[in-house]
Amino acid sequence: NIKGVIFDLDGVISNTSRLHSDAWHQVADKVGTEWTESLSNKLKGVSRMESLELILQASSLESHYNDQQKQELAHDKNKDYLRRVENMTKNDILPGIESFLESLKQNHYGLALASASKNSARVLEKTGLSHYFSEIVDPTKLSKGKPDPEIFATAAKLLRLAPEKCLGIEDAVMGIRSINAANIFSIGIGDKNILNEAGIVFENTELLTLSNIRSHFDKK
Ligand code: G6P
Ligand code: MG
Repeated sequence: NIKGVIFDLDGVISNTSRLHSDAWHQVADKVGTEWTESLSNKLKGVSRMESLELILQASSLESHYNDQQKQELAHDKNKDYLRRVENMTKNDILPGIESFLESLKQNHYGLALASASKNSARVLEKTGLSHYFSEIVDPTKLSKGKPDPEIFATAAKLLRLAPEKCLGIEDAVMGIRSINAANIFSIGIGDKNILNEAGIVFENTELLTLSNIRSHFDKK
């Protein structure tokens, strides 16, 4: 009885979580915060300014920069990120995603995008995937970011579906929390120990198929 699927973008559809992370790594080097795997994971799904705050907080630097300097750091990061996005092609779609989107379309599922990124439309354009999504949540219109349920709840509303009729797909802990809080069934992509709050976890996007999802529900 699932009728809609709501996707995160970075790290689920495209390899852009790598590009965000490389661009933030540069910022961390600039301000003198040590770049670690755990910091990189914490930034996933988090908005631009909140990500910057986390990088500054990691070395107790948040009060060393005024608002204007923070805006500049975030602006430079975005410029760097967008330069990387301009080089993207269809090859940057994660494995199996395009055929999964195609099978969802063939089976008349409603498809929505719930990304915190202000650059998501550009990424979909560069990868040629825009036409799959009838609904894209505008993150600038939200009052709260992930892990708040607002973004996934808004996506379900745009699809005109009750949350129980939707699936949400995420690679970030904050994203899984947002999906769960919206009363939507959550699918995690990545490490099941990190994403242990998800309804199902697939290790990678290649395993994300309608038949694998169905067989999970059949087993129940
Ligand atoms: C997504 C990504 C984050 C990124 C955020 C804001 O949630 O997972 O890594 O920081 O979007 O992206 P933006 O493109 O608006 O800076
Ligand atoms: Mg993500």
